[in-house]
Parts: sequence; structure tokens; C-alpha cells
Amino acid sequence: MIPQVKIQKELGLFKEHKVDSKSCGPLANNYARYPVEFEKGEGVHLFDTDGKQYLDFLSGIAVTGLGHNHPMINEAVTDQLNKLWHVSNLFEASQQELLAQKLVEKSGLHSVFFCNSGTEANEAAIKFARKWGNDRSKILTAVGGFHGRTMGSLSATAQFKTWEGFTPLLPGFNYIPFNDIENIEYSIDENTIAIMVEPIQGESGVIIPDEGYLKSLREICEEHNLLLIIDEIQTGIGRTGKFFAHQWDEIKPDIITVAKGIANGIPLGATIVSEKVAEIITPGCHGSTFGGNPLAIAAANVVVDLVDENLLEKVNESATLLEKSIHLIFTNKIKEIRCKGLMVGIEFVNRVSAKEIAKMLLNKGIVVGTSGDSVLRLLPPLIISKNDIIEFTVIFEKVLQQI
Ligand SMILES: Cc1ncc(COP(=O)(O)O)c(C=O)c1O
Repeated sequence: MIPQVKIQKELGLFKEHKVDSKSCGPLANNYARYPVEFEKGEGVHLFDTDGKQYLDFLSGIAVTGLGHNHPMINEAVTDQLNKLWHVSNLFEASQQELLAQKLVEKSGLHSVFFCNSGTEANEAAIKFARKWGNDRSKILTAVGGFHGRTMGSLSATAQFKTWEGFTPLLPGFNYIPFNDIENIEYSIDENTIAIMVEPIQGESGVIIPDEGYLKSLREICEEHNLLLIIDEIQTGIGRTGKFFAHQWDEIKPDIITVAKGIANGIPLGATIVSEKVAEIITPGCHGSTFGGNPLAIAAANVVVDLVDENLLEKVNESATLLEKSIHLIFTNKIKEIRCKGLMVGIEFVNRVSAKEIAKMLLNKGIVVGTSGDSVLRLLPPLIISKNDIIEFTVIFEKVLQQI
């Protein structure tokens, strides 16, 4: 227990946070927020405004993979903060080049465009694919996939609920079943330029395709002269135990998009392209005022170095332990457990609400996420320890007994 809480408890002043919904006041009403505000983070822990400590099993939705308040990232960003914040992309940028070189080495691709978010990384991917396609323009994306909220990425997102109220969508997208190779060829015609998928569908509840799915997509793309675009925005930067999740299938995409974890919480997105895509990118064809901002680049240069083979090995060990631990406390309220690295979806049977379970866990000091009504989503920091996993499991078991 942290000292503030101990003293408050002794004085009888401690207010236990009860998680309930609350009005958003002057903020736009587009988020259903939990009524808890965090004001500090340290490693895998968060502290709310009452000083209560929480174990972070969400990482800001797969963003703060290296934990909060990381000394090396802080130092790099603080150094940059004291030197220069912004000059625009009209000038040379050696730190962007350095980061691009690291991403090129990690991916085996050719070059990198920097932006500020996942949806922007996908917008760039869609635009580059269209430019590469010349007079062809159709992109196939998978049902249940999520690619972002701006119009291009939203149109690529084959989830009806995200479209409601925002149609007409951008033309040029066709939707194919996820993890289904057999029927793809029916959707490919002379106007098709690309297939775009997540290696694991995160927002849809951690839907893991069969081994070899991406390899088959790669082969289909070769056969029909299509680009393979892999959205690694949630799965990339070590989340699944490889630097990129598609590396489990040993394939090389034509375009990879990343964001979320790349700068551990400072907004940054990147669209990594192969040589044949790089050839169509010319000055003025696309851009972003803030893309590749020096602060974000400073953070990302440290993050990419830290997500090395040692850390990936640790992620895989932690992932095995977490999966085993959840199976140990399996109850008939759980329908399915889906795990790939530190990306976990726990699907409950119909009558159990994942949101209620997330609220119960939050009240007990564990931060988790949900997907839809029935899936609890765990995205713990890549640096979690055995003890953190045990702590989570003990509390989760108690919550499961209460429902
Ligand atoms: C796979 C995937 N693509 C794209 C996005 C959009 O990223 P952003 O919210 O940074 O625009 C997300 C966000 O959840 C995502 O999970």
C-alpha cells in the first residue's frame, strides 16, 4: 500500500473508488470513460488521484509496452524537449533517418513514412497502394478487422457498428471473411491492388487466424500481383513475442503499418514500405505537419532498441506463464481463451458481461480492456514480471468467483 493511502485509511478518509459511469461535461461524448483518473505511472503500475495503486494490464491499449515513466525514454524525450520541439518536414531529420533505418532492418523492407497515429499510417498505406496500382484501386480487407476511424481507414474497417451514421464510405474496398483462404479468389478482379489485414484481429477480441494464413495470403498476392498490407498497429513492437506478429508466419509484406507501442505513448505512426512501393512515393504526394515529430522520434529510437531479442524472449516466457495461469482458474463462465504473446482475449459465455468484469477488476486495482460485450482483453506491458502475473491471476480468480 502506498503511504498516502495508508494515512488516509488510518484517518478514516479513504474513499474507495466505485466504478460507475459519469457525465463527460464539456468533453465530446464519444468515449464511455471509467470514472477513475490516473495521475502517475511507474513501471507496470498506475496511481489514481486518490493515490490508489493499480496493476496495468492494458498498457493504454497496447501502447506503453515498456511501462510508465521509463528512465531511458524519459531521458531521451527530456533531452529533445530541451533542444527542439518542431521544425517541420521541410528540413533534414537525422533522427528520423536513424529510426527509419532501424525499422527497415527489423522489417526487411525499404523505407518509412512517419505520421502521428495508427489511422494515419493506414491512410498512407491506402494512398500508396492506390498510387502503386495506377488505374486499379480495389483493396480487400477482412470482416471484423479494425484499421482506424478516419474515412479511408474506416472504409477499410469491415465492422458495421463503426460505420453507423458516417456513410457513404470511400469506394474501393471489398470485404472478405477473415482466416478464409478458399473464397478470396472470387473477390479478386482486374481492379484489385491489395489485401490488407491485421495478423491478429485485436479490437474484434483477439481473433487469431490459423498458422499459415498470412503465408497463403502472401502467395495469393504474388500470383495476382497484389500488395500485401499488414496492419501491425496493435500487434507490432514486440506485443506477440516477435517484433512484428507476421514474423511468426515468416513472410515479408509489401507495406507494414505501426503506431501504438512504437513511442511508448508519444503519438507516432509509421508506414513501412517495400522497394516497389517506395518507387511511387515522390515529394509532395503525401505529408504530415507533425509526422515524425522530434519528441516522438526520440522516444521511438529508444523503444525500438529496447525491444530486442532479450525482451522478446521475456515476452514469450511471460506469455506462457500468463496463459497457463488463466487456464488454471478456468471456470464454466469462460467460453474461450485466446492468447498470442501478451495479447489475450478471454471470451465469456453469453450471460456474463466482460465490461462488468473489467469494472470489478478495476475496483480491485487491475486495469484491463474489453472487446464488445463478451471479451476481456489483456494487453499487459511487455516488462511484466512473474509476480505481476500471479497477482493478476489471484485477483481475477476472486472476481470470477463473485460472478
Ligand atoms: C489494428 C489497428 N489498426 C489501426 C488502429 C487505429 O489506430 P489509432 O487509434 O492510433 O488511429 C488501431 C487502434 O486500435 C488498431 O488496433
